Amino acid sequence: MKLIVVKDYQALSREAAHRGAEELRAHPNASVVAATGDTPMGMYAHLAELRDRGELDASGLRLFQLDSYLGLSADDPRSLYGWMKRSLLDPLGIPDERVVRLTGDAPDPDSVCEAYDAAVAAAGGIDLAILGLGRNGHLGFNEPPVQVDAPTRVVALATESIESNASYWGGQDRVPRRALTAGMSVLLKSRAILVLVSGTRKQEILRRTIEGPITPDVPASYLQHRSNVTIIADRDAAGSLSAQ
Ligand code: GLP
Repeated sequence: MKLIVVKDYQALSREAAHRGAEELRAHPNASVVAATGDTPMGMYAHLAELRDRGELDASGLRLFQLDSYLGLSADDPRSLYGWMKRSLLDPLGIPDERVVRLTGDAPDPDSVCEAYDAAVAAAGGIDLAILGLGRNGHLGFNEPPVQVDAPTRVVALATESIESNASYWGGQDRVPRRALTAGMSVLLKSRAILVLVSGTRKQEILRRTIEGPITPDVPASYLQHRSNVTIIADRDAAGSLSAQ
């Protein structure tokens, strides 16, 4: 695992876009998992600028949705698919048909999860995962405790996730209690993993991710000792951690 520490959120967004674009130029038909949440928004804006300048062609990519709230339709304002569409798919010119979704309001969500894992396998695995870090160490909505080989599935959100997601939608009562998430097995097998971490509120969980024991109680700790993982943190998140 490599840790890159940069000055602030702007530098993090530039660095992440630079590295992401390099990966995507090397693999123009890549299968990509991309997080929503606040942290990668600056990166996505930079990727869109690269595309507008003709320096990035995203038309061959295949996107896999990282997570979604159970029970919400794609046109619900809180839909994570909608968020991904506004922040990444539309700005990069990726049409809906190139996306494997975790449909939140399907009649049988378990079979949506099974079909997702089958689509990942059929694609030969994920090439690039762009992830944020939950305050409880979750990746996607893989809430602790989670096993290293957990498949894509329906989960109950942890209290920390309900609290942090409340800031997106204006209150905890607006946050659905269950979700579909790409499994740890899918994420950890990705050929390249980029994790973006910003702000002092992530400092303690980033330290536990990198320096603490590898444990189901900190899902992101499974990223340790994997050479395909790059964490980009700003100084506020890194605290006393130094680049490695
Ligand atoms: C959310 C999402 C994750 C996201 C993480 C961090 O709850 N389930 O996909 O990466 O938590 O979010 P943020 O970047 O807003 O801090």
